[in-house]
Amino acid sequence: MKSSRSLPRVRRRSRENTSERRPQGPTRIDTCRRRRAWLLAFAAAAALTSACRQDMHNQPKYIPLRDSAFFPNGSSARPLVEDTVARGTLEEDEEFFTGKSGGAAVTTMPFPLTKEVLDRGEQRFNIFCSPCHDTAGTGQGMIVRRGYRQPPTFHSDRLRQAPIGHFFDVITNGFGAMPDYRAQVAPRDRWAIAAYVRALQLSQHATAAELPAEDRQKLAQPPGRPAEGAAKH
Ligand code: HEC
Repeated sequence: MKSSRSLPRVRRRSRENTSERRPQGPTRIDTCRRRRAWLLAFAAAAALTSACRQDMHNQPKYIPLRDSAFFPNGSSARPLVEDTVARGTLEEDEEFFTGKSGGAAVTTMPFPLTKEVLDRGEQRFNIFCSPCHDTAGTGQGMIVRRGYRQPPTFHSDRLRQAPIGHFFDVITNGFGAMPDYRAQVAPRDRWAIAAYVRALQLSQHATAAELPAEDRQKLAQPPGRPAEGAAKH
């Protein structure tokens, strides 16, 4: 009880001290000493704890691909287990990813052919193939005109009869002097291009019976004279 009564008095006195005699006096020196002691304690604690952290930093661990005396092949990196497949890269569908079935080129698309797929194929063909094969597929692309080896035209009987899987395979793996486009063109786009090559072939080699009725009528017109109403267009 006695000490609790004396405490407020001490506090009051110290407040008086600070307001009246701030510039000099023993109070200020005491505070400095106390502060210095705290700083020293803090520095010692920091030095001790940082020493612990350093120990954790210097772990006996391997950095990837560093040499190793422990493993027989002398490398810290372990080879992948055979037949390991990275997540999301399992290419199970043989026809879709190779254009082949049991080693033979497939004769049909592995997914339905729509106008969108064909449009996409046209766009991709004009970007990736026309520099050499030209936009009609005759093999007179700009790079060829500057000296690159001339590819065969797509409008030969041999390539007209080639199964669509052959075109997918040529794009995927290259063919003779032609580089492969596996890395640049995704599998679905390769199929779209193959379908567009088929459309190009048809554009140069269709029988009258394959034309829509409207176009067949135009064929009946004498050459040189546009059909009625055609002048408006
Ligand atoms: C850098 C030029 C170049 C580009 C680009 C190119 N090709 Fe070729 N392509 C060639 C050459 C050259 C050949 C002939 C290769 C040979 O016979 O050695 C060829 C051959 C072909 C053949 C014929 C294969 C056969 O059975 O004879 C096809 C089909 C073909 N290319 C499709 C494509 C498609 C589709 C693309 C676009 C994805 C493409 N090429 C892009 C240069 C090119």
